[in-house]
Amino acid sequence: MALKHLALIGASMVGLLATARADTLSDRVELCVACHGEHGVPQDKSIPVIDGQQQGYLYLQLRDYKNGGRRNEVMSPIAEALERADIIALAEYFSKRPASRSPRMR
Ligand code: HEC
Repeated sequence: MALKHLALIGASMVGLLATARADTLSDRVELCVACHGEHGVPQDKSIPVIDGQQQGYLYLQLRDYKNGGRRNEVMSPIAEALERADIIALAEYFSKRPASRSPRMR
C-alpha cells in the first residue's frame, strides 16, 4: 500500500474522529485497527505493531504526534483529532492486547 493511500485513509479517519460518530473508546479502536490490524498484524509493512507495546511508550508516541514532537503525515492528523483522555485510554487499551503472533522484522 502506498503512503499516499495511507494518508488518504488517515484523512478520512480524522473526519470520523471529529464527528460524534466516534465517541466511545471502541469506536476509536475500530479506526485504529483498520490500519494497525484486528489481531495485532498491521495491514501493511509500513504500519507498526501497537498491540502489546508498553503503555507509556504508546502514550508518548501519540502525545508527540499530537504536539508535533513526532511528525508523520498519516498519524499526526489522527493524533491531533484525539483528546488527551482518548490518548491515555487508547494507550492503555492497546498495551493490554496480546502482541502480534507474527511479529515483523523492523
Ligand atoms: C490510516 C492508517 C492508520 C490509522 C487509521 C492509524 N494509524 Fe497509527 N500508524 C500508522 C502508520 C503508517 C504509522 C507509522 C508512522 C511513522 O512512521 O511515524 C503509525 C504509527 C503509530 C504509533 C507509533 C508506533 C511505534 O511503534 O512507534 C502509534 C502509537 C499509533 N500509530 C497508534 C494509533 C492509534 C491509537 C490509532 C487510532 C486512533 C491509529 N494509530 C490509527 C497508520 C495508521
